[in-house]
Amino acid sequence: MCGIIGCVGRGDDTLETLVEGLANLEYRGYDSAGVALVGADGLSVCKTEGELSALRDRLEGRDPAGTVGIGHTRWSTHGPPTDANAHPHTDCAGEVAVVHNGIIENYQPLREELEEQGHEFESDTDTEVVPHLIEAALAGGARPEPAFREAIGQLEGSYAIAAVIAGSREIFAARNDSPLVAGLGQDSEGVPPQDGTGGPVFLASDVPAFREHTPHVLYLEDGDFATLDGGLTVTDTDGVAVDRGVETVEWDAEQTGKSGYDHFMRKEIHEQPWALRQCLSGRVDELRGAADIDLELGATLGVQFVAAGTSYHASLYGAELFRRAGVPAQAFLASEYATSTPPIGDDLVIGVTQSGETADTLSALREADRRGAETLAVTNTVSSTADRECDHTLLIRSGPEIGVAATKTFAGQLAALNLLSLATVESQHDRRTLLPALRDLPGDVQAILNDSNAEGIADAYEDASAYFFIGRGLQYPVALEGALKLKEISYKHAEGFAAGELKHGPLALVEDSTPVFAVVLGSGERAQKTVGNIKEVEARDAPVVAVTDGRNDAHLYADHVLEVPETHPRAGALLANVQLQLVAYHVADNLGRPIDKPRHLAKSVTVE
Ligand code: G6P
Repeated sequence: MCGIIGCVGRGDDTLETLVEGLANLEYRGYDSAGVALVGADGLSVCKTEGELSALRDRLEGRDPAGTVGIGHTRWSTHGPPTDANAHPHTDCAGEVAVVHNGIIENYQPLREELEEQGHEFESDTDTEVVPHLIEAALAGGARPEPAFREAIGQLEGSYAIAAVIAGSREIFAARNDSPLVAGLGQDSEGVPPQDGTGGPVFLASDVPAFREHTPHVLYLEDGDFATLDGGLTVTDTDGVAVDRGVETVEWDAEQTGKSGYDHFMRKEIHEQPWALRQCLSGRVDELRGAADIDLELGATLGVQFVAAGTSYHASLYGAELFRRAGVPAQAFLASEYATSTPPIGDDLVIGVTQSGETADTLSALREADRRGAETLAVTNTVSSTADRECDHTLLIRSGPEIGVAATKTFAGQLAALNLLSLATVESQHDRRTLLPALRDLPGDVQAILNDSNAEGIADAYEDASAYFFIGRGLQYPVALEGALKLKEISYKHAEGFAAGELKHGPLALVEDSTPVFAVVLGSGERAQKTVGNIKEVEARDAPVVAVTDGRNDAHLYADHVLEVPETHPRAGALLANVQLQLVAYHVADNLGRPIDKPRHLAKSVTVE
């Protein structure tokens, strides 16, 4: 996930403030970095692929001067991590520099238009249109601030943007759907003036970037424009001043990378609405009833998924989507696939892997490739081995995940697999019913995060020695994932089962102290069958927690209910999973487990 820092300083330490700010954002993950400074001699830009140490090396000896500057750590989404694709991006004359987080959906037509006007581009990024748009507006006679506004007015998509312009001692910023926060320097008493005129003024995608300089922050909202000069002015889209209020951040230094959350996992669970928006951004067109994922896949007769861990659960879900659309599809554990490869024929082989580096998954994909299969990586990581080696890549765009237990990347995988099936095999009718549910998904996840009673349920059952999770159809992978999450981070024994399978063995283990989490969505025949399975465990006096949208009778037999908003069953499965993530998190937290780094587990397993 990219990071932004900006500073209008008082002395000659702005460059160091920018580089330190980027260092404070390193936890977000990045693959290139850069800074731009405006000084008496104009605009200087320095950027490079790789880590901040590479940027520091490149800055050595150059020492660009200036008290106004912006910096960026890039996590690739459009184009590989190269010097040219690193931010800041500049216009033709090298007088405007821009950093950006998010995705500009209409960059392609904007770029074509600018190229026709004679603008020359140096990168593959969507961001580069912005400095050229500003340059065009300046050439038309606009002053810097109106030129910035005019450029931003032409963008569609999500963005947090900051720009500097040679000859102007200001930073211009705008936000839409991507966070941006200003920091107001304090006087010697530690008090910040409301307009920031007392000290340096900062801008960042996240508070840790400047937390060491000031705890006084002002969060920009969607549609806001900010101008940082000696002070700070915030205006709305019409240029009318708005008062966003200054807040004081209380976090200690250790917490800053977690944006105030106790653990990265909790932060990442709460980032899911954002991650889903990023995944879906520019890829769904409700008006046309279409999904566009920019992939040219060959005609395939069937689909084979290969994956490990949480990604395997996403693959089970993906295979079910394809089967429902009439396409033969199967999900395989990558470690088994590589040793006993099934006949592939003309199947498309899809490796689902958030890291793109899991050895078992790579080995399965290589075996499929050796046998002549067309391969597709569904991954979170640009330029990962899976991305580089597969014929095609579908990025899930969740932003880097630090917690070992996968959360937001699972949500991103489910969303991306829906886009894949929508774009390739679904009927027009299915597209029309699913697209509105996908559009509402980020808001529905947010509603769960706001109102969940998962913590109370975790409190009630934290002492149990075993937990079962059951679900049918699309809710079966959710049951497996709910159990995996709980065992990974709480070290409690947890098992997920297909709901109908419980009575064929596992029921013998059910006691009055074994909580059973039952995922039951909708009102159809499948839901009724799972309600029947709930009755079976209830008859054995086991406590039941129903994860349900209330469209069936599960709540009548359950001791507790975790509510899921009513929606399309595919979206419902993702929502139910969010409730189970929260249960796992709170049980582990109550038990004092090292949630972000569970014992014996690794984020990326590069051995078979
Ligand atoms: C490891 C992690 C799991 C993850 C699995 C697959 O085991 O601990 O959380 O689900 O690898 O990772 P991938 O990067 O391929 O999705």
